[in-house]
Amino acid sequence: MADVPAIDITSTAEWSALAEHHEAVAGLHLRELFDADPDRPAAMTAAGADLVLDYSKHRITRDTVPLLTALARAAGLPERTEAMFSGKHINTSEDRAVLHTALRLPRDATLQVDGQDVVADVHAVLDRMGSFSDAVRSGKWTGHTGERIRAVVNIGIGGSDLGPVMAYEALKAYADRDLTMRFVSNIDPTDITEATRDLDPATTLFIVSSKTFTTLETLTNAQVARRWLLAGLGGDESAVAKHFVAVSTNAKEVSAFGIDEDNMFGFWDWVGGRYSVDSAIGLSLMVAIGKEQFGEFLAGMHAIDEHFRTAPLEENLPVIAGLLNVWYVNFFDTQTHAVLPYSQYLHRLPAYLQQLTMESNGKSVRGDGSPVTTTTGEIFWGEPGTNGQHAFYQLLHQGKRLVPADFIGFAEPNHDVSVPDGGTSGDMHDLFMSNLFAQTSALAFGKTAEEIAAEGTPAEIVPHKVMPGNRPSSAILARKLTPSVLGQLIAFYEHMTFVEGTIWGIDSFDQWGVELGKVLARQLGPVLSDPEAHTGGLDASTAALVRR
Ligand code: F6P
Repeated sequence: MADVPAIDITSTAEWSALAEHHEAVAGLHLRELFDADPDRPAAMTAAGADLVLDYSKHRITRDTVPLLTALARAAGLPERTEAMFSGKHINTSEDRAVLHTALRLPRDATLQVDGQDVVADVHAVLDRMGSFSDAVRSGKWTGHTGERIRAVVNIGIGGSDLGPVMAYEALKAYADRDLTMRFVSNIDPTDITEATRDLDPATTLFIVSSKTFTTLETLTNAQVARRWLLAGLGGDESAVAKHFVAVSTNAKEVSAFGIDEDNMFGFWDWVGGRYSVDSAIGLSLMVAIGKEQFGEFLAGMHAIDEHFRTAPLEENLPVIAGLLNVWYVNFFDTQTHAVLPYSQYLHRLPAYLQQLTMESNGKSVRGDGSPVTTTTGEIFWGEPGTNGQHAFYQLLHQGKRLVPADFIGFAEPNHDVSVPDGGTSGDMHDLFMSNLFAQTSALAFGKTAEEIAAEGTPAEIVPHKVMPGNRPSSAILARKLTPSVLGQLIAFYEHMTFVEGTIWGIDSFDQWGVELGKVLARQLGPVLSDPEAHTGGLDASTAALVRR
């Protein structure tokens, strides 16, 4: 792996030191840790750009982060970070640079990679995207019948869907609400059917987003959309040019599909699908929020890139968060990680992070092909608060599993709403945020049997009401959810993922594990459609399912 020592991280002295430290810390309760060190919140809070990370409610002492950063140095994190930012081919299994950070470099930055002026290339595409989205938003871009566009449908899947839909949902308060935005991803026919059923073909624009432009789901949905459009516009093929644009790295396949290259927005093989919302894949987002606010979104990402690249490891948000994840996964044997945004606008963030983290770090071999000798990756999941509180928090509070959680909250709301007289009182957003603080406190400190008994609870009920506490969480806070802050959050999680992958020595930028299923689905499609087709080549179980 470029510039990184090929080591088994579990055989290092730094790993052994952490194992020993874990022995000393694992039995301590957060109540004891806070009693012994009441200044933890000040000591265990880091800031980068507009984000604040309070990690004081973790099962750590002041010795833990230095031990974890020593591990990061042993894994070559600083060198590998530099290798990534400078365009070295750290995606070794695909022999590619990993340069999503270049997508948000300002226009006056310089970066040459493999003989290419990357910054000039990026801004040339951004400028074309800007002109296009201006034209759609102003009504200058018209459809086949001369009417302005009123609905934009992004067709894509994985990174070509989750980033745009998550970010659009997150930034709805900043979007042009006269434009209807839809996102179609699933090859389930209901998805495209439901997305188009109330739209007018004359005023609908499709953005077909696919890095490879070979993805079955996306191409199938795009073909169905094309047929829907032509059926609605009298079958004139020339309508396609006014109603379809493509975002891809594969100009040949885009042309083969029938989309003019003038209507294609490109990007590069050094942008991974799950790291691509800031490339032309973000076109639907740019149309929704406008090029200026899209620029703020990119600037937010860049601010965290700079923080990640330059801040000391001990004060570095993505580094601390990534290393704490390693601490739990590898030393406390945790399996999952909850993401709990206290913002309804962030309701797709957990799904987005599932691809980002699990497609990146769900690997069993290191960059050189040798097996990883410890556990990798966590199962990321979550729901916005307070909905999650009324669903699964029970298990977080009293279950037998340890689930580290990220609580994400904002000081100011996107909408000022007061609680009407007779309600609980005051400001609705304050009421909302009070839940975030209450939950992190209850998780960390719980409630003892003595405290519960002292309230007069019958003895037989006391055990049911005991809140064990000692459940770790981070609080990630910002003043307000803005385009810039959303960009910062995404970049924070991207680099957190990279930190974890670096410790484990894996290539976080390939995804070979999704290929076999795709190949088999292509083989099985014709078998399902033809009742006479024989199922001879299939495994016995699959053949039985197909026959049924
Ligand atoms: O199957 C996984 C994957 O390759 C993702 O990594 C990617 O984001 C998604 O499929 C979509 O790929 P494409 O943008 O090439 O259609």
